[in-house]
Amino acid sequence: MELVTTLKSQTVRTRIRDVGINPNHWYAVSWATDLKVGQVMPVKIWEWAIAVYRDINGQLHALEDSCPRRGVALHKGKVKGANLACRYHGWEFDSRGQCVKIPYLPPTQKLPCAQTRSFPIQELHGLIWVFPGDSSLAEASQPP
Ligand code: FES
Repeated sequence: MELVTTLKSQTVRTRIRDVGINPNHWYAVSWATDLKVGQVMPVKIWEWAIAVYRDINGQLHALEDSCPRRGVALHKGKVKGANLACRYHGWEFDSRGQCVKIPYLPPTQKLPCAQTRSFPIQELHGLIWVFPGDSSLAEASQPP
């Protein structure tokens, strides 16, 4: 009898681990002091790989950690002003994830429509918080 009960509770625990998180919440990803101006860090929230960076003005930004050109991890890139530059070909992405510069193209040439996802991010209570879900819901909620 006890064995059956034990097995049932183990099954329930296993199934709970199969359930994903609710993405429409703020999640603390790091101490704010661990990310200095001009630095990038990789962050993982459930299944989302995110590159979090602090630009030269101290503003935080969060982009999907995958360059839209070849999928290279953006957290391996460099902060350039307010943008994050991919390590491979140097494409630069702004805080919205939009490609805004390709270093080897003439300035007058039209850029491709390359974009990576951006996430709402904020610094509060000494922590960095990211909202991985529907960004239109981020303003309505606050970190706990
Ligand atoms: S893979 Fe990112 S710019 Fe080429």
